[in-house]
Amino acid sequence: MSLIEEQFTVSLSVNGTTRPVTVPARRLLSDAIRHDLELTGTHVGCEHGVCGACTVLLDGAPVRSCLMFAVQAEGHAITTVEGLADANGRLHPVQEAFRDCHGLQCGFCTPGFLTTIAAALEEYEPGADVSDEEAREIVGGNLCRCTGYQNIVKAVGRAQEIRTERAGRADGDAATSAGR
Ligand code: FES
Ligand code: FES
Repeated sequence: MSLIEEQFTVSLSVNGTTRPVTVPARRLLSDAIRHDLELTGTHVGCEHGVCGACTVLLDGAPVRSCLMFAVQAEGHAITTVEGLADANGRLHPVQEAFRDCHGLQCGFCTPGFLTTIAAALEEYEPGADVSDEEAREIVGGNLCRCTGYQNIVKAVGRAQEIRTERAGRADGDAATSAGR
């Protein structure tokens, strides 16, 4: 029996760029992201699907990258924390809100919170209210050992405010350029 694991080359689309990786069939997506693609913003805590630190977006939906094999992600659009800011480097509303509200301490859990919350807020129109109870529901599957969660919950509401502010500005800019 050969001790050399068979390798598979797959194309992973991460943050808008498609890159090939050659990995064994059982290579975790989290390991492929961190070690093969060198995107170390995605953190690994429990490797059992419990802590949420490894959360990335797969076609916009949050998934635990420690519970998927890299080969399963081929053909899907992966977004890691490095891909949340826009093309001009402007922080995502959730990133800005975490900074405003001091939503992190050591930061180990933070990439998982940011991706989870970013996906959840897509379900809300700008201007819609996100209650503290809803915010707690959104972050309920992610573990943080430092913060006590209060400022993370505040950051969810603040992120929604920032989305609303930005949508208002975009509407204003559109009206100005249309000469209205
Ligand atoms: S490292 Fe994936 S859920 Fe904890
Ligand atoms: S900020 Fe340290 S684990 Fe959450």
